[in-house]
Amino acid sequence: MLQRRIGIMSGLMIFSALLVWSAVTAGAQGKSAADVYGDKCAVCHGADGAGKTAKGKKLKVQDVRETIKKFDVAQMTDIATKGKGENMDGFAKDLTPAQISAVVEYYRGLAKK
Ligand code: HEC
Repeated sequence: MLQRRIGIMSGLMIFSALLVWSAVTAGAQGKSAADVYGDKCAVCHGADGAGKTAKGKKLKVQDVRETIKKFDVAQMTDIATKGKGENMDGFAKDLTPAQISAVVEYYRGLAKK
């Protein structure tokens, strides 16, 4: 009986350790593209991609509904990775290539809304 309780207790401990671990890794890597966009891009590009934020207007960010006609996915990924001009920084240091692809995909998706 006692042994069985110890078994359950240690099982619970492993389970909660796993929960904490997955919460931590989710924070670092498992963020959704929408979260990353809201965190890193929306200040300038706007939640809707129109660039009509205070910063976006100041830096003359264009609406994704226009820029999507000029840049394909590869070009946008390149800009998001390496940056463009003085005001658009590259995100190679902050984001993994997979996160950059996902967030560019999300950004382009805003043009279709
Ligand atoms: C500090 C403001 C700022 C932030 C933050 C920012 N951008 Fe930009 N972005 C700009 C500006 C300004 C341009 C236009 C640059 C030019 O054409 O010279 C631009 C251009 C772009 C372009 C080129 C096509 C287009 O639609 O204009 C892409 C793609 C892009 N940004 C993606 C992103 C992504 C993805 C993020 C977040 C990971 C992001 N940007 C964050 C300011 C910003």
